Amino acid sequence: MEFSIKSGSPEKQRSACIVVGVFEPRRLSATAEQLDEISEGYISNLLRKGDLEGKSGQMLLLHHVPNILSERVLLVGCGKERELDERQYRQIINKTINTLNETGSMEAVCFLSELHVKGRDTYWKVRQAVEATQDGLYSFNSLKTHKEEPRRPLRKIVFNVPTRRELPIGERAINHALAISEGISTCKNVANMPPNICNPAYLAEQAKILSNDYEKITTEIVDEQDMEALGMGSYLAVGRGSDNESLMSIITYNGIDDDSKPLVLVGKGLTFDSGGISLKPGAGMDEMKYDMGGAAGVLGAMHALAELDLPIKVIGVLAGCENMPSSKAYRPGDILTTMSGQTVEVLNTDAEGRLVLCDALTYVERFEPDAVIDVATLTGACVVALGQHATGLLSTHNPLAHELLNASEQSGDRAWRMPLWDDYQEQLESPFADMTNLGGKEAGTITAGCFLSRFTKKYHWAHLDVAGTAWRSGGKNKGSTGRPVSMLTQFMLNRAGQEQGE
Ligand code: BES
Ligand code: MN
Ligand code: ZN
Repeated sequence: MEFSIKSGSPEKQRSACIVVGVFEPRRLSATAEQLDEISEGYISNLLRKGDLEGKSGQMLLLHHVPNILSERVLLVGCGKERELDERQYRQIINKTINTLNETGSMEAVCFLSELHVKGRDTYWKVRQAVEATQDGLYSFNSLKTHKEEPRRPLRKIVFNVPTRRELPIGERAINHALAISEGISTCKNVANMPPNICNPAYLAEQAKILSNDYEKITTEIVDEQDMEALGMGSYLAVGRGSDNESLMSIITYNGIDDDSKPLVLVGKGLTFDSGGISLKPGAGMDEMKYDMGGAAGVLGAMHALAELDLPIKVIGVLAGCENMPSSKAYRPGDILTTMSGQTVEVLNTDAEGRLVLCDALTYVERFEPDAVIDVATLTGACVVALGQHATGLLSTHNPLAHELLNASEQSGDRAWRMPLWDDYQEQLESPFADMTNLGGKEAGTITAGCFLSRFTKKYHWAHLDVAGTAWRSGGKNKGSTGRPVSMLTQFMLNRAGQEQGE
């Protein structure tokens, strides 16, 4: 899809379709008003007859509107003018794109980017519109023999902005959105890939592809032999039951030559989590192919970063591993020695994510990070607490937590903070080792965070639990969401000091 920005009046557009908003009850937006005048009341007449109330998401397609140069006019219901918020705006855009694809228009000029969305500027409206469009167009069908390519005539969308002064702002929004959408698409492609194809070696290959495609990226792979030498006893234990070797991919993006310290992103990359000896129940187990969603998110964010060519240093770590039962597998009762030297009594082999991450988090100390953010589908408890709407955010460093919350607010990729108070640490006490890997029934997301916090004392650290947000469950709609690529990329844009709006 091609996107561009224009600043013009609706009656002068000569396009296959022009898209304008109508509010509830039957109130024309400013641009719809202009079209109405030129067409001598054609549109207001229709509204008076009751053809469109203006409810959010309603669509009315008109052909040959008198005196209008464009072939079609699409009237889009936007709800009550004063209630138009971010969520509604995104939904309206999504529906508009679907409708446009059904009309046969190859090109459209969209005036919805001029609507007033509470607290949001032109940059935001254009960027969200492009991201929503790209998100809606995604499909994963590389493994179908009969690829039913849906009919999608729409090739080009022009977003209109109210003043010429805003043209560069809109253009920057498109560029940012396209880079982020590419990252999201990379994330979705790897995450949706089945676990017989997407194993730790496959993750490592994807990392190498990035370094082949971008000059500023280099990739290094840490294999099991290296991990033995490094003393990563905890990470290795989790992968022991699988014939697929554990591989940790280190993706380095060097956007600036100075003595600044890097940001480090660490992704949980369980390409399949069967639970191991503490085997999971069978129903829905296929979805544990998404247990590498954190790694996919980090890969996607690195891709977006490289596309944006930001002047910062970032290291992305994909902690690839497979958790399987076998006679070689680690067991409940085992006591593991982590790379940090701390010992862990395994009470459940299904609490494996923290065991892989703790060693990866110790490993990254060598980079002397400015900050470390790990991303993981870590706990079912997070899905219970926040559902599919918000990513769980836990951090021992308030400024970093606020930076992330800000980025999530700006990008619309929501996160919500949970506490990491010391009171919860007690739940990890073991009679035999420094800690257990199981915090008990209560506050599972927090105790998992507490576990990780014991390995992150040497730097500023935040943890994103994406168990509820990384993919959609069940049935036909199952699939990766590409989250939290948008939030992470926003975070990096902010760090790079990239202006957005004025
Ligand atoms: N990958 C799972 C967490 C998960 C479960 C994410 C369901 C999304 C949906 C993780 O490895 C796991 O199994 N966690 C256990 C931890 C428990 C044994 C302490 C869980 O959440 O049940
Ligand atoms: Mn598990
Ligand atoms: Zn897991």
